Amino acid sequence: MPEHPESPWSVETQLVHAGRPPAQPGNPVNYPVELSSTYHAGGEVEYARDGTLGMRSLEEAVGPLEGGEAVAFASGMAAANAIVDLLPAGAVVVAAEFTYTGVALRLRELDGRGIISLRRVDIADTEAVIAALRGADALWIESPTNPMMEVADIPAISAAAHAVGALVVCDNTFATPLGQRPLDMGADMVLHSGTKAIGGHSDCLLGLAITADPERATALRLRRTLLGAAPGALECYLVLRGLRTLGLRRARSQASAQVIAERLAAHPAVTRVRYPGLLGDPGYDRCARHMSGPGFMMAIEVAGGADAAQAVAQSTRLWVHATSLGGVESLIERRRRWPAENPRVPEGLLRLSVGIEDPEDLWSDLARALDAR
Ligand SMILES: Cc1ncc(COP(=O)(O)O)c(C=O)c1O
Repeated sequence: MPEHPESPWSVETQLVHAGRPPAQPGNPVNYPVELSSTYHAGGEVEYARDGTLGMRSLEEAVGPLEGGEAVAFASGMAAANAIVDLLPAGAVVVAAEFTYTGVALRLRELDGRGIISLRRVDIADTEAVIAALRGADALWIESPTNPMMEVADIPAISAAAHAVGALVVCDNTFATPLGQRPLDMGADMVLHSGTKAIGGHSDCLLGLAITADPERATALRLRRTLLGAAPGALECYLVLRGLRTLGLRRARSQASAQVIAERLAAHPAVTRVRYPGLLGDPGYDRCARHMSGPGFMMAIEVAGGADAAQAVAQSTRLWVHATSLGGVESLIERRRRWPAENPRVPEGLLRLSVGIEDPEDLWSDLARALDAR
């Protein structure tokens, strides 16, 4: 587990204690949820859209986990849009073909309006990424990708992007800051949907952008103010509270995911398991080299295609049939049920987010649904 260079404590210990009020007699242990849009003039905080102590406490806890300065946003998409808004007009953006649907849609939309020029690449194909980088202003990495679970060679493609002067952005939502640290591998900015594993309880929306460059952090804060993308006080509180247990939750769900992936790989109703913790998975070597573990997300393809996969998703009792990921509860979803999903995602692909339930319960529920499809 990587440690923040300035802290004597492990990352798991840091996230329990970070972002708290100063340890002084009478101070609360947690920042209270401050429900105020405005503040008495002349103080450190004037107006909530510009940033509050609640936002700052969360940012102070998340930034060091990634090795940078964090800026909190109203959602992952708000953070993504703030990053895109920093790019020059007409920017050439090389982006992973399989990015999260919302990001993919937004980049395509901006391309269609002539605001950026988009080049989509297979992010796991390092040579193809390097070839596409000629004249690029930005490289948009997602790794592992949603929902195809491809793993990029972040150090190699970041170095190639920097060689042509391109900004490197990495969506680290699937891996979490405990799974990999893209800034250490050459990325300039990291994006998180804090809605997912960082918050961890499927109870609010929040986004985070992290950079080690103080000027970029200031620019991101200004984007938050100008785009009106500030997170709410309760959301900041909930996500910081969730972050405290990220180490425990991630360790449990990752261990369960590994067991479930191995059993799925041997199940006759499953034609393919995409999980970088499986020997033989295309992302296995890179995961072993660059990540602390393969994480809690996987995708499977079900024999019988769309109908069979849909039947499985609808017949589990424990796995919740719902979109999103990273919560304490396990989620299952056929991604192509969304019309906006990339048509190259197989119709029979189910995305699985493994939660913290007993892995044997999860397995028996999933195996029953697969057997009955
Ligand atoms: C990888 C990834 N990035 C970004 C987002 C967007 O985050 P949010 O839903 O918080 O706006 C999502 C949402 O599913 C995601 O999966």
